[in-house]
Formats: sequence, C-alpha cells, structure tokens
Amino acid sequence: MQLRDFLELIHPVLVITIVFPLVGLAVYFAWQTRQRRLQARTGQKPPGPALAGITHMRVGHYLTGAVVGVCLVALGFDTLDSAIQADAFVKEPVQMGFLGLMFIATLAALGFLYISRPWGWRLVFALLTEVGVLVLGFQDTLFNRPEQWIFRRDYEWQFSHFYSGLVVTTLMIISLGIVPQIYRSSGWRTLHITLNTLALLFFLGQAMTGTRDLIEIPLTWQTPYIEQLYNLNCNVKPCQVTLQTKTGPGSP
Ligand code: HEM
Ligand code: HEM
Repeated sequence: MQLRDFLELIHPVLVITIVFPLVGLAVYFAWQTRQRRLQARTGQKPPGPALAGITHMRVGHYLTGAVVGVCLVALGFDTLDSAIQADAFVKEPVQMGFLGLMFIATLAALGFLYISRPWGWRLVFALLTEVGVLVLGFQDTLFNRPEQWIFRRDYEWQFSHFYSGLVVTTLMIISLGIVPQIYRSSGWRTLHITLNTLALLFFLGQAMTGTRDLIEIPLTWQTPYIEQLYNLNCNVKPCQVTLQTKTGPGSP
C-alpha cells in the first residue's frame, strides 16, 4: 500500500473506531436520561444510573470534537493531496498559507467554544467554528478554482457525502454550543432532541455514502485505469482500457 492510500484511509478509520462508538454511547445515555426525566415526573424512582445525564453530556463533548476532527482530517487530506498534485505550495503560497491558518483557526475556535461559558461567546465561537468548516469545504468556490479539490458531488447533492458530512458536523457544533441552554429550558431540550434525532439519520447516511466513496475511489496504482473508464465514457458505450504492465512498489 502506498503512503497516499494509507493517508486516505485515516479518515474512515477514525470515524469507525472513534466517532461511531461515541454515537452509540451518546444514544445509550441519552435514552437513559430521557427515561429518568419522564419517570421522575410521575414521582416514581427514576430507572438507570443517576449519572446518565452527566455522562451523556460528557460523551457529547467528545463526540462533537471527534466529528469536527474527522471532518477536518477529510478536508485536510483532500486539500493536501490536490495541493501537492497541483504544486500549489510553490504556485499559490498565499492561498496555501491562508488555508493552513483556516485549519488552525477552526480548531482554535472549537477549543474556545469548549471553555467559554457566557452565551454570547459560545455563539461567537460556535459560529466561527462553523465558518471555518464552511470556508475549508467550499474553498474551490472561494478561490474560483477550475478543478475541484474537495469532491462535493454537486451533480447528485442528495447523495453527497460532503453535504451530509457538513450537516452532521454543524448539528454537533450546535449541540455543544447550546449545552447550558439545554439545562435551562425545555424548549431548547426539545430542539436538541429533534436536531440530534435528525443527526442520527445523517450519521447513518455518512456510513452509507462513505462506504460507497471508499469503493469508488481507486487505490493509487488503479487510478490510471479507472480514469480511462471515465474518459472513454465506458458507462454508456463499449470501450477498451489499455493496460500498461508495471511492476514495482506501485503495483498490487
Ligand atoms: C447522537 C447525538 C445525540 C442524541 C441522539 C442526543 C439526545 C439527547 C436526549 C434524548 C436527551 C435527553 C433529553 C431529556 O432529558 O428529555 C439529551 C440530553 C442532553 N444532551 Fe444530547 N444528544 C446527542 C448529542 C449530544 C451532544 C453532542 C451534546 C453536547 C455536546 C449533548 C448534550 C446534552 C445535554 C447537556 C443534555 C442534558 C442532560 C441532562 O439532562 O442531564 N447531546 N440528548
Ligand atoms: C461522522 C461521519 C463522517 C463525516 C462527518 C465525514 C465527513 C467527510 C467529509 C467532509 C469529507 C470530504 C468531502 C469528500 O471528499 O467527499 C469526507 C470524505 C471521505 N469520507 Fe467521510 N465522513 C464521515 C464518515 C465516513 C465513513 C463512515 C466513511 C467510510 C467508511 C467515510 C469515507 C470517506 C471517504 C472515502 C472520503 C473521500 C476522501 C477523498 O476524497 O479522498 N467517511 N468525509
């Protein structure tokens, strides 16, 4: 396996080993928190552990960090990979410097969101984190690039891993941003449950579109052949892919 292929797999591996287990934990404790709250209203002894709510909140904190993290890892890989191919570090140093700073600023904004308490500041840092993710995600439009560095699947946006990835990331940023509000009012609590039930569907969608993308994106040694399939329109007419026999580290 070549280094590029290895790096490309880091994002899916992090999602599978860290994000999805955290989603499972968050849902498990969310259910217990809800049951305890509903039972407490009836005056009966609430079921489940007394720390269910706190544990859910803690897991939620890790979950938001993990989701924003894997999103940035994916965008970071796409950016770096395309920048190296386009020799952009030499040709577009200002643009690359800006993108580098954007990655750092987004992480810093998320960090400040974790530690700030006043509602106003939480709103500011949640918005800044979101803006960071959006700028990095839509960098092709921002820089008016003729070629796409971030594969958005605009022609089939309903099934796009990119757009639903941004939605789920946004929902996690909102969850973290409104934590104090959830404790204060039942309206925010209901909003939280509604948005995050939706987020669960998007997580499922990410698993599906992510797996599809994994089987669609060729390994480095396969790329020249797969590119021929697209260039020769092999999906609509008969075509012949030319095999250049190559032995060495790049071959399977
Ligand atoms: C998969 C995602 C999530 C789902 C399905 C979910 C769902 C829920 C549910 C059902 C409740 C209980 C509401 C009630 O008491 O009636 C809850 C409470 C809460 N959630 Fe989430 N949540 C998720 C993620 C998060 C995240 C990412 C955070 C924060 C970063 C978070 C913070 C909280 C807090 C602070 C409470 C109140 C806990 C308490 O009452 O002690 N949740 N959530
Ligand atoms: C929380 C869940 C996830 C989020 C937020 C997320 C987010 C993203 C984002 C924003 C991108 C960059 C846009 C793009 O290239 O399409 C991306 C790329 C990708 N993701 Fe995910 N993803 C998630 C889960 C998964 C899963 C479960 C898999 C596979 C099992 C996966 C596999 C991929 C692949 C293969 C790419 C393309 C990388 C490339 O362009 O070379 N993702 N993801």
